[in-house]
Amino acid sequence: MKKFFIAANWKLNGNINMISNFFKYLKLQSSIHSKKNTIIIAPPTIYLERVYKDVSNMNIFLGAQNIDIHLKGAFTGETSVLMLEDIGVKYVIIGHSERRLMHNETNDIIIKKFHLIKESNLIPILCIGETEIDKKNGKTQEVITEQLHDIFKKIGKSAFKNTIIAYEPIWAIGTGLSAEPKDVQLIHKFIKNYIVKHDSIDINDIIVQYGGSINYSNAKKFMEQPDINGLLIGNASLDPAEFCRIIKISDHIL
Ligand code: PGA
Repeated sequence: MKKFFIAANWKLNGNINMISNFFKYLKLQSSIHSKKNTIIIAPPTIYLERVYKDVSNMNIFLGAQNIDIHLKGAFTGETSVLMLEDIGVKYVIIGHSERRLMHNETNDIIIKKFHLIKESNLIPILCIGETEIDKKNGKTQEVITEQLHDIFKKIGKSAFKNTIIAYEPIWAIGTGLSAEPKDVQLIHKFIKNYIVKHDSIDINDIIVQYGGSINYSNAKKFMEQPDINGLLIGNASLDPAEFCRIIKISDHIL
C-alpha cells in the first residue's frame, strides 16, 4: 500500500481553543491512529509545546514552520533548530514561498537553514516551486532546477536523504486554484530524475509532496499519481474534519 507524508501547515492561525477542539476531534478518528502514513502538524511556534502534549500519544509528528540561520546568540525574536529539537519537533518547513516573498528569504538563506537542519536530528520539508509568471514563460523546470542545484552545491551528494521536498507552485497557494494532478505528476518525476542524477539516493526513497489549494474534493486525484508521495496542506488543515477526511482517502489508494 502506498504510504503518504501528509503535513498540515497552520501558518499564522490557531489558538488554544482551536487546538484543544482540533485534537479532541482527531483522537476519535481511526485513520489518524493508523501507522500507514506519516502525519505532521506544523502550528505557529508559540503553540509547538502545547501541540506536542497532544501529539505525543498519537501517530502524529510535530513540525515547525521556520528556524533562524543561527544556533544561538543575540538574535531577538528568533528560534533555533536546537530549541526545536529540545521540545520534540521532528520536521521543519523551509523555503515556503510566503517566507521567500514576504520575508525576503533568498536561496542562500534557505540553504543555510537546510544545512543546519541536516546537521541536527530534524528533517527538512523544503518547499520549491515557480511563480505564475515563471509558469507562463515555460520556466517551471528551470526555476526548480536552480532551487535544487543550489542545495547540491552547498550540501553535496546526500542532500536529499531523509528529506521531504514539497512542490508548491506559488500561484496555487491559498488561491483555490490547484494545479492539474497530471501536470504535478510530470514535475514530481522531473524533480526525482534530477535528484537521482546528483544524489546517491535511490529514486524510490525520494519523497515529494504537493502543496497548493488541496482540499477534500481534489486530494484523491493528487494522491493517485505515482510520484506524489504526500501533501502539504494549508487552509484545509485548519478544519479537523476536512483534514481527517483527506487522510482517510489514502485508505483507498494502493
Ligand atoms: P493552501 O496552502 O493549502 O492554503 O493553498 C498550502 C501551503 O502554503 O503550504
